[in-house]
Amino acid sequence: MAEVARRDQWSGSLGFVLAAAGSAIGLGNVWKFPYITGLNGGGAFVLIYLGCILVVGIPVMMCEFTLGRRTGQSPVGAFRALSSRSARNTATGRWLGWLILFTAAALACFGSYGAAVLTLIAGICALYYKWVSVGIVSVFSAATILGYYSVVGGWTIDYTVLAVTQQMEAQTAEQISALFQTIASSPAWSVAGMFCFVLFSAAVVFFGVRNGIERTSKVLMPLLLIMLFLLILRGLTLPGSEKGVQFLLAPDFSKITKEGILIALGHAFFTLSLGMGISITYGSYLDKKRNIFGATLAVVCLDTLIALMAGLAIFPALFALEMDPSSGPGLVFQVMPVAFNAMPDNLGWLWCTIFFALLAIAAVTSGISLLEVVVACCCEELKISRRKATVLCVILVGLIGMLCAFSSVSWDALPWLQSWLEMVFHTSQASFFDLLDVFNTYYLLPISGCGICIFVGWIWGSRHAVQELRHGGRSFTDVGIWQLLSGIKNNQPGQITMAMIWGALIRFVTPVAIFFLFLNGIGWF
Ligand code: PHE
Repeated sequence: MAEVARRDQWSGSLGFVLAAAGSAIGLGNVWKFPYITGLNGGGAFVLIYLGCILVVGIPVMMCEFTLGRRTGQSPVGAFRALSSRSARNTATGRWLGWLILFTAAALACFGSYGAAVLTLIAGICALYYKWVSVGIVSVFSAATILGYYSVVGGWTIDYTVLAVTQQMEAQTAEQISALFQTIASSPAWSVAGMFCFVLFSAAVVFFGVRNGIERTSKVLMPLLLIMLFLLILRGLTLPGSEKGVQFLLAPDFSKITKEGILIALGHAFFTLSLGMGISITYGSYLDKKRNIFGATLAVVCLDTLIALMAGLAIFPALFALEMDPSSGPGLVFQVMPVAFNAMPDNLGWLWCTIFFALLAIAAVTSGISLLEVVVACCCEELKISRRKATVLCVILVGLIGMLCAFSSVSWDALPWLQSWLEMVFHTSQASFFDLLDVFNTYYLLPISGCGICIFVGWIWGSRHAVQELRHGGRSFTDVGIWQLLSGIKNNQPGQITMAMIWGALIRFVTPVAIFFLFLNGIGWF
């Protein structure tokens, strides 16, 4: 066997939790969660969301950490290591491969030749690589997501510069809307921002896990918390801010709908950065002394806390200044700068700078984790050094990012790509950026999320996976649920333990829930 360099490791639980939380806390927490909460019943929606986190978020995240720590490898290597000698892997993999090939044939019969070719490739991949294909899919989505995530990350950097140089002060709402259009559709701004974002992430990843990712997270995450506190204080001290708090938190059970539940489920999956191998890769740098269950809980709590805090930083101020809440890029890039300009204390530029710097931090810690997945995989599969792998990945991601940046608003800059994609895939997305987003969110992520659960629950086997969870976490895994909740020791045999609940969830409940999400995404409901 080739000599493998000793792997870098986290220095302790804190570094690991902060890095994983940095990955989970991203633009979704700031521009999506508060808004969907406000629209779907406030506090009532938060309860549903917490339910989704329990049923989908925590179990899948634990699967990923366990896979990573057990094998000490990136997603592709992790699946390979655990499936190489299993007869179940071969049989189910082959079965899956034929099923996908059959789908490809059906697609070709219906005239969707482009989709048929893609599915054919996926089928051959499944026949040849079996369950390792799930690892390949997750690394592929990490690389493509990073492409468009870094464009948005780049905008946050552009806006931080604009805010700090006070270029948005005294502008009207129309001027600020026009500014966003200019930046989003100008290749120069988008590409410059995107490269700053990618190069910063690359510089961190270049220095490795402990010296790069962990150190950066330990500085940036506390900074993010402090900035959020400042913004919340400012928002809540404006007269009339209670209406915003009400919008965000007042429970209204009549607003809970089927769509709301699916939105909560989808967001739980997205916000924890599941299905793209990040937690597998981060888990692979974890030593056996750490408690995976405890770390997962800490990451999930931090992520939810920050999402709620972001809501408290945004909505009270918006309502106090009588502005309409919205979500997505429109909220942060078009509405918020106007709100800051209307601040009564004339310090709008300062609040604006804090807000965009906070967004940039949230985005960059997520970008780092995405890049780490691709870099770690390149190092292992191509047997090259981390430094070489980083350079290679920056070139790759930079290319995807440029395509996204050139077409973030419309296809105008890349008409040839649009007509080609339309001819082959019959796509009707508004831009290349949207296309990658839809493809990842609706297809790749649910597929790999489901694959990870089924693999851990059925192929590797929950019995073996639990043995890994026990390292450093015996007090959680084999403890009865009532014992844990009550804090009273009572080692009776036959009681339901946390490990049993986890095993049952990942074998039955979680894959079904993710499958529903997939069906909903492709428009079946
Ligand atoms: N979890 C991030 C968020 O909440 C989104 C993200 C997805 C980040 C995928 C990285 C990778 O915004």
